[in-house]
Amino acid sequence: MSRVFSGIQPSGELHIGNYLGAVKNWVTLQSEFECIFCIVDLHAITQPYEPAELEARTLEMATSLLAAGIDPERSTLFVQSHVPEHAELAWVFNIVAPLGELERMTQFKEKAARQESVPAGLLNYPVLQAADILLYRAERVPVGEDQLQHLELAREIARRWNARFGRDFFPEPQAMLSPATRIMGLDGAAKMSKSLGNTIGVLESPEAIWEKLRPAMTDPARKTRRDPGNPDICNIYRLHQFFSAPAEVTMVAEQCRSAGWGCLDCKRVLADNMIAALAPVRERAAALAARPAYVREVLAAGAARARRIAGAVMGEVRQRMGFLPAGV
Ligand code: TYM
Repeated sequence: MSRVFSGIQPSGELHIGNYLGAVKNWVTLQSEFECIFCIVDLHAITQPYEPAELEARTLEMATSLLAAGIDPERSTLFVQSHVPEHAELAWVFNIVAPLGELERMTQFKEKAARQESVPAGLLNYPVLQAADILLYRAERVPVGEDQLQHLELAREIARRWNARFGRDFFPEPQAMLSPATRIMGLDGAAKMSKSLGNTIGVLESPEAIWEKLRPAMTDPARKTRRDPGNPDICNIYRLHQFFSAPAEVTMVAEQCRSAGWGCLDCKRVLADNMIAALAPVRERAAALAARPAYVREVLAAGAARARRIAGAVMGEVRQRMGFLPAGV
């Protein structure tokens, strides 16, 4: 059975972009593959963050993932910093990672542009990501479209390391995309993203979901209630495709084109469907929030399992690279 690995940063709430783009896919893959899912706190600290909040955010992300359907009986769920080999392999990969390509990474350029002083950690972020995946010699990586460039680099790193130290030791990991490769934010202008504040959280209350959807961007050419709209360029219509039944999606398009419905009518239907779809996740999260010890136990067991694999792979890496073994 080939191994699946993926990660998510604990840098904010789990939002519907993460959920539709990646996590929903993770849940499905559990029945077919050996899955390892990682809360990547070492990645999250490459952006400005509040140390006092990191622990709680990490636990919240674990709770949200379990609530979304990650099953610790079938999958390994753990926190990246609990397995020190991630940082060790990332260092090793730094010696084969091409600097020019790191500098060309879109996410690096975007994030660097937002900071006055750019830390080297931001540049090396994709090297750590390659280490995450290859430490488990994972072959498949379910992610959203924004991670494709990082995965291409992970393959390049695997090839370069293999060429120098061990033919075919690391597989070249392939992306697995969900149908929701790129969910746009509520502004309709940029990707839904924690750092842009244009998100809907998976655990948000029905009232909060409606408050966010009500003013959300639709077809900008539809100025009045009587103007017909164009669903093909409307972000709300796109969200219907993920939350509404096929017959309803067809009806939404018709009502939009004929100006039968106004944008608010259309958003109300979306809100109701989204609230219904997310209700079971919210309920499970509330139940889990009452059992913080359980969530910590899941993460401890996950880290123990991950360390067993990571330790063996890292042992091989050290040997192939010629390090003096520790001990006598
Ligand atoms: P992160 O935490 O930004 O996002 C987690 C996952 O959600 C996907 N995603 C989206 N998909 C569709 N539409 C959106 N608007 C949207 N926003 C986020 C992301 O593509 C991702 O799959 N670098 C990674 C974390 C990481 C990782 C790894 C992933 C670290 N190591 C190893 C895979 C393998 C990241 O920033 O994810």
